[in-house]
Amino acid sequence: MTKCVLGVLAGVLLTGQAWGADLTGDWVFQAAPSFPRFTRMAIRQDAGGLHGTITSEWYGDLPMLDLKATGEGPAGERLVFHIDNGNPKLKPLDLTLAPDGAGIRLTGQVWYEKQGATAHRATAAEMAALDFPTYPLPAPAHVPANGQARTPPMGWSSWNKFAEAIDDKTVREIADALVRSGLRDAGYVYVNIDDGWQGERGPDGVLHPNAKFPDMKALADYVHARGLKLGIYSSPGPKSCAGYAGSYGHVEQDARTWAEWGIDYLKYDLCSGEGFYHTADTVQAVYQQMGAALNATGRPIVYSLCEYGRFDVGAWGRDVGGNLWRTTGDIEDSYASMAAIGFDKNGVPRHTGPGGWNDPDMLEVGNGGMTTEEYRTHISLWAMMAAPLLMGNDARSMTQETLALLGNAEVIAIDQDPLGRQGLPWRKQNGTEIWTRPLADGSVAVGLFNRTDKPVAMIADWPALGLGDHPSVRDLWAHRSVVSGAVHTVPAHGVVLLRATR
Ligand code: GLA
Repeated sequence: MTKCVLGVLAGVLLTGQAWGADLTGDWVFQAAPSFPRFTRMAIRQDAGGLHGTITSEWYGDLPMLDLKATGEGPAGERLVFHIDNGNPKLKPLDLTLAPDGAGIRLTGQVWYEKQGATAHRATAAEMAALDFPTYPLPAPAHVPANGQARTPPMGWSSWNKFAEAIDDKTVREIADALVRSGLRDAGYVYVNIDDGWQGERGPDGVLHPNAKFPDMKALADYVHARGLKLGIYSSPGPKSCAGYAGSYGHVEQDARTWAEWGIDYLKYDLCSGEGFYHTADTVQAVYQQMGAALNATGRPIVYSLCEYGRFDVGAWGRDVGGNLWRTTGDIEDSYASMAAIGFDKNGVPRHTGPGGWNDPDMLEVGNGGMTTEEYRTHISLWAMMAAPLLMGNDARSMTQETLALLGNAEVIAIDQDPLGRQGLPWRKQNGTEIWTRPLADGSVAVGLFNRTDKPVAMIADWPALGLGDHPSVRDLWAHRSVVSGAVHTVPAHGVVLLRATR
């Protein structure tokens, strides 16, 4: 009884409000949800008020923001706070701490993951065992160009179709399918394993693949023997986006491991790194570090930056050794998602060109969420933008229609045009857009896009486009020449893609 009164008094004295339990001190979580896997907390009360740090396996040490005692709840004993992982999309949802026997219970939600975990009072040794290391970042320096990706990279990536359900066997079968279908010869040469291949680090720090990838070197040999190249995926943070080991603290070591396996392409995805690097300088530095590490291996490795277009990445992507950089968050297999990115979130055109490309994300063609006309718009837009063409479907079981969309040599030639200029909207009107892209041979690619849900008649105004009265015009999807004055009926959500020569 006396103890309780004293406790309440202490709470009143310390916080200026009724607070029945002293929740300050050091705490260690027994078990916590895998995202963001909270491990420990240090909560203090001093003249400046209540403050604390919560540590997680994804984000290291984070301040407990707006930490305050509240009188809510039956016992009137609660601490409430939120965290900021550096992601502008993370809503600052409340996390609550309440006494739980001799321990303390955390509830609430972080991003999409409900939290529920109990912590016990920790000794200094227990706290120290959970210290989260931080590592110095390199001073700004220019990473010399690696000479790769003179045209936008083409290939296939596992994520859009398979996500984490990817393994050695599937990758081999995809490689075979690229050869068999003729898509390798059409230019799709990178076979990229996205998230989900990573296993554990050995005592020497070397990262091993998980059981689904028994021998990466053998897999690289298999892919290389078919005239293809192998890509892999990691994060500058401790965790990849799907929660696998990232390269945090092992940047140079991982680059060497991949080079030894024979890896030809790395997608480096910010993921949990956003909790550590949320300023332009630190994000740039951490990407520079991997760019330099890849170069130091001596193996030519295409370097793909994936930080969702933050901090004007195109302005410095080349400087850190990057060959492509995402301009956006993740694409979804829907017209709305694809169109939002393709028409409007495709990066700053002047940043794109031989050696370094705006990357509006991988293709969804063939995954089933769009109509043929919508997929035609998808690939036509990507070609107009000089975007990387990374198939995201199950290449083992493509319909003829999908194959025709992906394998159209005349459209691929637009994408791969050696001038490397990104196309631009020339006129937007009533849901239609006319895009133009100048090409190396002096001809111009012209896209007549219809964003409405009804067919629309469109014509290209050649004199206004600078192509004279009667350019010779080829329809790249119909595979035939068309008269320059033709009126084109562009299907709903569809496109007519032309190549005109004065
Ligand atoms: C992020 C990337 C995606 C994909 C996943 C994998 O969301 O933007 O392209 O790589 O991570 O977890």
